Amino acid sequence: MAVTITIANEKGGVGKTTTAVNLAAGLALRLSHNEGAAGRVLLVDMDPQGHALLATAFGTPAVDSRTGLASLLMESPPPSVQRLIQRAEYHPNLFVIPSSRPSMVEAARLLPTLMANETRLNRALAPVADQFAFIVIDTPPTTGDLLVNALVAADLVLIPVETSYLGVSGLRELQKTIDLVRLHFRPTIEILGYLPTLTEEQRSEAQEILVELKKRYPDLLLPAIHKSSDLAYAHSSHMDVFTYRPPRSRRGDQIASSSRATQEYADLVERILVRAGLADTA
Ligand SMILES: Nc1ncnc2c1ncn2[C@@H]1O[C@H](COP(=O)(O)OP(=O)(O)OP(=O)(O)O)[C@@H](O)[C@H]1O
Ligand SMILES: [Mg+2]
Repeated sequence: MAVTITIANEKGGVGKTTTAVNLAAGLALRLSHNEGAAGRVLLVDMDPQGHALLATAFGTPAVDSRTGLASLLMESPPPSVQRLIQRAEYHPNLFVIPSSRPSMVEAARLLPTLMANETRLNRALAPVADQFAFIVIDTPPTTGDLLVNALVAADLVLIPVETSYLGVSGLRELQKTIDLVRLHFRPTIEILGYLPTLTEEQRSEAQEILVELKKRYPDLLLPAIHKSSDLAYAHSSHMDVFTYRPPRSRRGDQIASSSRATQEYADLVERILVRAGLADTA
């Protein structure tokens, strides 16, 4: 059964899509020698703004409202999820459910009027949960039904936090939303961790925020993803960073680093494998 990781933060531009893309690609690379479901990763694009990046990053053809994620959320009964899954271009064991912006905007507008509006994604993904080791869900920078659907489907929530003063505001709201999802829908949902992003070592602001985050979340603070031109260039080249800066070699089963950014996301992958109890089998 897949471990589902939702990348969430209601704040915009904090590195959710960057983290979703690079985590999914890193997991796919790391698990690529496993047979069957144990070697497959699914990326679900719930971010109407991010669709261009995901769609082009993974070479998927344009989607419309009938072929994208929105149809899973809107139609009753939902269409076969299998039909919506596309193979990513750069990694043979990475798959994507893409979305199109207009249809996701429509879904966000109409979901509150539909029955079972919070649980639709979870139910729609259930038939393929045993076909993947991990499902990674990217979310929009909004509250509301799209975010709630992504949380209801989650085993683990990964929260990217921009290391700036503004970056740490609003985290308590997200925590409250997760608590409500745990209470009403998903008793097993857990926060995987807070992931400092866009961290600039030389800035004292970043260091102060890291200290503050450590105080607030002593057990849940993950090592930072630093601001890096590789991540920015990979993004603008419509690639994950492992494709943009391919690992030069593999150290044992680890993904060898080709840059700081690949090393930091590879380290995140290793932590997640340990957390999911898969480090030995990967
Ligand atoms: N560690 C990093 N180093 C350099 N650039 C980064 C890093 N992380 C993200 N970026 C850049 O910052 C911008 C915002 O990142 P991203 O799109 O991942 O954020 P987001 O949280 O998904 O935004 P939104 O809330 O709008 O969906 C992008 O241009 C991305 O390339
Ligand atoms: Mg995004």
